[in-house]
Order: sequence, then structure tokens, then C-alpha cells
Amino acid sequence: MTVSLEQLRRCHVAVDLGAARTRVFVKGAGLVVDEPSVAAVNTRTGALIAVGEFAEKMTGRTPDYIRVARPVSGGTVVDVEMAQRMLRHLLGEKLRRQLRRKPLLRAAATTPHDSDPLAQRATIETLVGLGARRVELVDTLIAAAVGCGLPVEEPTATMILVCGAATTQVAVLSLGSIVTAERIPVGGNAIDHAVIQYLRHQHELMLPSQSVRPLQLALHGTGLTPDGPASTEIHGRDVATGLARSVVVETAAVRQALHTPLTAVLDGIGKVLRDCPPDLVADLVDGGITMVGGSARLPGLDELLRDATGMPVRIAESPDTCAVLGLGAMLDGRIQPLTLNPLAEAE
Ligand SMILES: Nc1ncnc2c1ncn2[C@@H]1O[C@H](COP(=O)(O)OP(=O)(O)OP(=O)(O)O)[C@@H](O)[C@H]1O
Ligand SMILES: [Mg+2]
Repeated sequence: MTVSLEQLRRCHVAVDLGAARTRVFVKGAGLVVDEPSVAAVNTRTGALIAVGEFAEKMTGRTPDYIRVARPVSGGTVVDVEMAQRMLRHLLGEKLRRQLRRKPLLRAAATTPHDSDPLAQRATIETLVGLGARRVELVDTLIAAAVGCGLPVEEPTATMILVCGAATTQVAVLSLGSIVTAERIPVGGNAIDHAVIQYLRHQHELMLPSQSVRPLQLALHGTGLTPDGPASTEIHGRDVATGLARSVVVETAAVRQALHTPLTAVLDGIGKVLRDCPPDLVADLVDGGITMVGGSARLPGLDELLRDATGMPVRIAESPDTCAVLGLGAMLDGRIQPLTLNPLAEAE
């Protein structure tokens, strides 16, 4: 971690700008925002029509003068101005007034592991536009590990898998730092995309964007495991005729389609373990992998990882908010700094 806990303790607000959801923690008030990172704009007037949950419901259902924008993509802010407007509305007038009163507003934000300076700049600019005078960036992996209560500071290895919408990040941590880590550009979005592509190619069926999740759940029953129902009926639109149509889909085939993006995640985990010093890998046999992030809820993903790695795998409690709550815990001073007293040199 490049910023110290001391600096973080001086921050007033913690922000996690994710590709799918934006979360804000305010010191003294807790988690105040947890909404989709979406804004709907009237393209004729430029006015903001809706943000968050309501804007997400509009996706794919708008007349052409309304544009639904996602200012955060691939885990980085791609449209700073829109991200600022979205955040302003998500925070609301009351909270903003409260934050404006601080003479020197300091903010902390999560940043994906290994994010490039340009992406970091965009996050900082977004928060500076909201009135922050200083912005501290913390690696998502560390924030999430703290948030799910892993003993990050201890000299034993802990392994965390952050399954987001745009990326999956995996790391082995020890003594409060990242030992080895990998960021894989595959997340919940890629998994949804795999289902949509499968139905399009195999059944010439277009699926409304918002029914992918229910489909995943219905299809799998018990998740990616083979015990779910053998087939299920789904409704969509025929690719060629444009008419409504239903098809019976074999769950095994969809499961197979889902495995393709997940192979990249398994490869990433393998690479992290191979790069990790053997003593730490030995620690992991007991501790195993902790999964956080929204996609950790994908039914059966934990079992798939358990089978592939042979290690214990657990899903953190409320996995989606771990990163921002971890950052919040650091702001509140609930995390004790690791005190490594230098040994007195023998004369
Ligand atoms: N019950 C569920 N089953 C399957 N997938 C889920 C479930 N709940 C959430 N997701 C997926 O989790 C993802 C959102 O996770 P999260 O909120 O951690 O993303 P994010 O932090 O915004 O993204 P990123 O960290 O990649 O920028 C979405 O892709 C969503 O499809
Ligand atoms: Mg995230």
C-alpha cells in the first residue's frame, strides 16, 4: 500500500467506482450510496434524467433522445464529467452540503490492481470535481481483503479473489502487502455476454439484456454444478424474424458456454499460485481462497474453484460491499497499523 493508514484516517469519504455499481462510504454515516453506475441523459437538452437504479431500469427501453451512459467501464472512469454528475446526484443535496462544510475535504478511492496512471488520474479528477482537496488511492485487493476480515497484517498468506463486473482480480497477501497478484479482464459482464452469445448462435434467439441474471439462476438451479435441471424454457426474440419465440435450452450446454470465460479466471489463479513463494502456498492449504465482489454470487462458482484448485473456497459475507467497507474501516481507524519496530543494531 503506498498510502499510509495515517493518511487514510484523515479522509472523510471513501468511494468505490465500479463498472457495475458505485458505492460511497461517509465517515460517521456508513455506507450511504450503493447504486448502479448508470446515468440517463436527455441528448436534446443535455439534462440528466435519472441516475442509479432508475437509470439502469431504462437500459434498452429508451426513446432515442435519451442516452443511458455508463461513465465507468472496464473498472476505470472513462467519462470524468458524467461520473461527477452521477456521483453528485447519487450523494444528494443533504450529504453534499455536509461534505462541503469540511474545510479540507479528503477522499479515498479504490483503484484496480495494476491500474495505469491515466486511469488513476481519471478517478482523482472525478473526486476533485466533487470538492475533494486530496485523494488517496488504495488497491481494491487490499481494501477488499480488509473489508472481509482477512488477517491481512499477519505474516501468513491469505488469498483473495475479487470478482467484479469488468475484471477479476486475485492476489496472495502477507504482512499487509500484495505478494503476487493478477488482474484478469473477465468478470460478470463477460459471463453475461457468454450466455447471450450462446443463445444467439445456437438458438438464434435474442435475450432482453435484463433477463440474463434470472436466466443464469433458473438454468443452473444449483449453479454451475451438474445437479441442476436438465433443460429450461426461455423467452426471447428471434434473430431473423424479430418475433417473440421460446426455446428449450439444455443447461449443460449453457454451463459449457459459461466455462469458457471462467477458464481465464482459473488460469489467473494458477499463475498467482505459481509465482507465489512455497511457504505462502503452504499457508493457503488451510486458509484457502476468499471470494468477494458481486460475481462471487454466481451460483456454483465457488464449487468450480474448489474443484479446480483443491483448496478451500469461501464466499465472504455480503461480498459486493467488501471493498468499500474495508476502505471505510481504514477511514474509521478500526484497522490497527502493523508496527514493525526496527531491531536495535548491536554495537
Ligand atoms: N446473484 C448474482 N449472480 C450472478 N452474478 C451476480 C449476482 N449479483 C451480482 N452479480 C454480478 O456481479 C457484478 C457486479 O459486481 P460488483 O458490484 O462487485 O462490480 P463492480 O465493483 O461494479 O465492478 P468492477 O469491480 O469490475 O469495476 C455484475 O456483473 C453482476 O452481474
Ligand atoms: Mg469492484
